[in-house]
Amino acid sequence: MQPRTAMAPLKRSIIKTLVGQFGHPRGLAGRAVGWVMAHRSSNRRRNLWIAALLDVRPTDRILEVGFGPGIAIAELSRRIGSAGHLYGVDHSEVMLRQASRRNAAAIMAGRVTLTCASVADLPATLNGPFDVIYAVNSLGHWPDPAERLRELGGRLVPGGRMALVSQPRTPGATAQTSLKVAREIQDLLESVGLRHEKTDTLGLDPPVVCVLAARPAAEPA
Ligand SMILES: C[S@@+](CC[C@H](N)C(=O)[O-])C[C@H]1O[C@@H](n2cnc3c(N)ncnc32)[C@H](O)[C@@H]1O
Repeated sequence: MQPRTAMAPLKRSIIKTLVGQFGHPRGLAGRAVGWVMAHRSSNRRRNLWIAALLDVRPTDRILEVGFGPGIAIAELSRRIGSAGHLYGVDHSEVMLRQASRRNAAAIMAGRVTLTCASVADLPATLNGPFDVIYAVNSLGHWPDPAERLRELGGRLVPGGRMALVSQPRTPGATAQTSLKVAREIQDLLESVGLRHEKTDTLGLDPPVVCVLAARPAAEPA
């Protein structure tokens, strides 16, 4: 039998690979990760929760960054009217395929547009302006999140809203961890000139937090 210490690096390497897959699903493992995200109860509940919490108007133009298998997009596309539009961007080709299949009818109907790109290199088609920009468990994977949020904030209409949802996935995460994450997200949003509106919590284990901020309606002179 292998000594326990010999197994530790292998276990660590498997965990590292899996975490990496959630940040950028690729290949066969990425397809499996996408399936897990589409079916795991906590993941579905997080995404359905944010779709309801956003309370979107039928005419809203909305952008999701890091849509994964497209659960929130599917829910929101039922809530916006034909005068609104839902855009999504994700840097994973595998997620683009899964989310496109899941949202095929809304894409065909011209209500949803999904694009494969990094949030660090958004195409001009995603210049906006948007009424709402949101991301679910994606911010932690972005390069230079403050700079990304600054750029995204500039794509909001004055008064437009940004919602960042997070459920900490680190081993041993507790309600305290979620509160700390919420405070860090709030600080980041405020550091790029967005006004904190509220922080909501969904009672999963650990809790999910949604930090909502808005672009000030009148820019400071
Ligand atoms: C943990 S998954 C969450 C997926 C989805 N929001 C959900 O809750 O089901 C993170 C997603 O963000 C995407 N992502 C991570 N970094 C990104 C980046 N720099 N640009 C665009 N998408 C990114 C990943 O490809 C992945 O689909």
